[in-house]
Amino acid sequence: MGKYIIKGGNKLNGEVFISGAKNSVLPILASTVLNSGICILKNVPMLLDTFVAIDILKDLGCEVSYSENLVVVNSKNINNTNVKEELVKKMRSSIIFLGSILSRCKEASISYPGGCNLGKRPIDFHLSAFEKLGIKIEDNEELIKASVENIKENIIELPFASVGATQNIILASIFVNGKVIIKNCAKEPEIIDMVKFLRKMGANIYGEGTHTITIKGVKRLNKVVEYTIMPDRIEAGTFLCMSAITNGNIKVNNIVPKHLNSLIEILNKIGCNIKIYKNSITIQNKNVLKPIDFLETNPYPYFPTDLQPQIMALLATIDGISIIKENIFEARNKHIPELNKLGCNIVEDNNVFIINGVNKLVGKNVVAKDLRGGASLIIAGLVAKGKTIVDGACYINRGYENIERKLNILGADIKYIKD
Ligand code: EPZ
Repeated sequence: MGKYIIKGGNKLNGEVFISGAKNSVLPILASTVLNSGICILKNVPMLLDTFVAIDILKDLGCEVSYSENLVVVNSKNINNTNVKEELVKKMRSSIIFLGSILSRCKEASISYPGGCNLGKRPIDFHLSAFEKLGIKIEDNEELIKASVENIKENIIELPFASVGATQNIILASIFVNGKVIIKNCAKEPEIIDMVKFLRKMGANIYGEGTHTITIKGVKRLNKVVEYTIMPDRIEAGTFLCMSAITNGNIKVNNIVPKHLNSLIEILNKIGCNIKIYKNSITIQNKNVLKPIDFLETNPYPYFPTDLQPQIMALLATIDGISIIKENIFEARNKHIPELNKLGCNIVEDNNVFIINGVNKLVGKNVVAKDLRGGASLIIAGLVAKGKTIVDGACYINRGYENIERKLNILGADIKYIKD
């Protein structure tokens, strides 16, 4: 599993350079299956999840090579349409390969991705949309087998602006005979990034970033495409919270500031002084930070669920009561008992978290149960007295590239111990 050992008490100062976005590179790697040519991807974060997606591509018959943050995918020959169970178990978001394999090969199978520590994580929106596209689904709750003659044009209204379902429907619709319209789709920047990549490949899609996306079918995609992955807004937001909790003064580079508007609004409200530049943000605390009366997570452009554990750790050290309501996942709360072990005072009631700020945390052994929850434990460890040992580092390494190096450059005292 691996662990991070953090010695608390250091202020963060200096500059950090943000990596490419995990939640953009995964759907873009899945999209390469649609191209019979070659895709050259730059600014790829070399994360555990990236390597799982690369293993899936190789298992499907693609040739994949990579060095540093460059990945080249030659998907000329796809000779397998079944996504290996051991890979699906490692990364539940591999479900979005279903749409691209189906588009290219007219059949696909994948074991049920199952839930994770955020809750059940069902895929009913994906499967019911696929059926509306004329895709035949056999689903025995263990394995999903899908096949289609030709994707049927249709208008699909999503019950919830699901990121994964939006991505999967787009991927399944690229070669439709006619057009597919997705209503109430997700508007996340990662959706826009995937669509821009697909458009470079020759796909005909418009409306990304709005609640309605239209895909007009094309015959085939066979190009050499070069694309640079967008910056990771969640990694950037994590570092902003790290600076604020240590009363630091940092500059976050290689970002798209507008992707962080909802977090910037909150940080300004609690008393941080944030300056925005073209591709970077600086942050330092103006004075003693104030609690936030009420904050809730919602789909983009509202406050992202993927920054809920991180802002919680920050608010837990600010005198006064802050309240967060988690609207996206039914169980994004596994970090709370671990934060309380460090001295936080957080109570929860049916996805409403009441945070009673304390002015002192003490280092302890804690366990990361998921990616962003793990990040929140590192954040708390940065100010906890003494040593904090965060077990379950493998979760954190799924979504943060070189977090130990980046934090040490900013003046933190953190070590990664591989088990
Ligand atoms: C993506 O997950 C992200 N993962 C998540 O980031 C992120 O938290 C989430 O979007 C919301 O922004 C990747 O992009 C790889 P959803 P996804 O479908 O697509 C329910 C991280 O930490 N739902 O928008 O799985 C679902 O249970 C990860 O980087 C259904 O009920 O999220 C959840 O409650 C965590 N049925 C809500 O919708 C479905 O068929 C939002 O899920 C699909 C989803």
